[in-house]
Amino acid sequence: MCDRAADLLLDWYDRHARDLPWRARPGAPLPDPYHVWLSEVMLQQTTVAAVIPYFEKFTTRWPDVAALAAAPEDEVMAAWAGLGYYSRARNLVKAAREVSRAGGFPTTEAELLKLPGLGDYTAAAVAAIAFERRALVVDANVERVIARLFAIEEPLPGGKKAIRAALDTITPERRAGDFAQAMMDLGSSLCRAREAQCLLCPWQAICAGREAGDPTRLPVKAPK
Ligand code: ADE
Repeated sequence: MCDRAADLLLDWYDRHARDLPWRARPGAPLPDPYHVWLSEVMLQQTTVAAVIPYFEKFTTRWPDVAALAAAPEDEVMAAWAGLGYYSRARNLVKAAREVSRAGGFPTTEAELLKLPGLGDYTAAAVAAIAFERRALVVDANVERVIARLFAIEEPLPGGKKAIRAALDTITPERRAGDFAQAMMDLGSSLCRAREAQCLLCPWQAICAGREAGDPTRLPVKAPK
């Protein structure tokens, strides 16, 4: 399934990618790492629709990481008001100062993980999207899509290991950022928690969850 799954998904992404302000402009090879980092921190606990105006406000006011690093923390906190989870804004300023002092963003997942406010998911996402590093970018949407594609029956959270291992088998070396974002777009548009639009899905012919009958049953959650 390996290369076929990635090819099908990337072809679909080429036709259906959402036009989001932190993504590379058409023709540009890569997005701005500052934009990728800022958007991924904002998206940690907040929806895409809610993030867009904040992303626009921040990048207009602080167009690069040096500008954000030079901003007084209380101004950044005030601009963040409404997004919630305010430790994200405090860590944002701390990370901006570290990055600015170092002369730029680190480019590997392991180094990105050391920045304040970057957990496993965000470090992997920034490494893949901003720096084209192969990385396993796993959030709840990706877990759902992979649990269905491979019909992984093991309940979450125990099933997370099997999901990562399955994702590893289809993650290509090329187009790391597009692949990660294609998974996110698939999870938020066609392969949704309570509804799966399999007839529009690029993986309809290879999806074991669909083959087994009811993909929305997956992922199974362990009883609390
Ligand atoms: N959710 C988190 N990161 C995202 C991204 N880069 N694109 C779309 N949705 C996302």
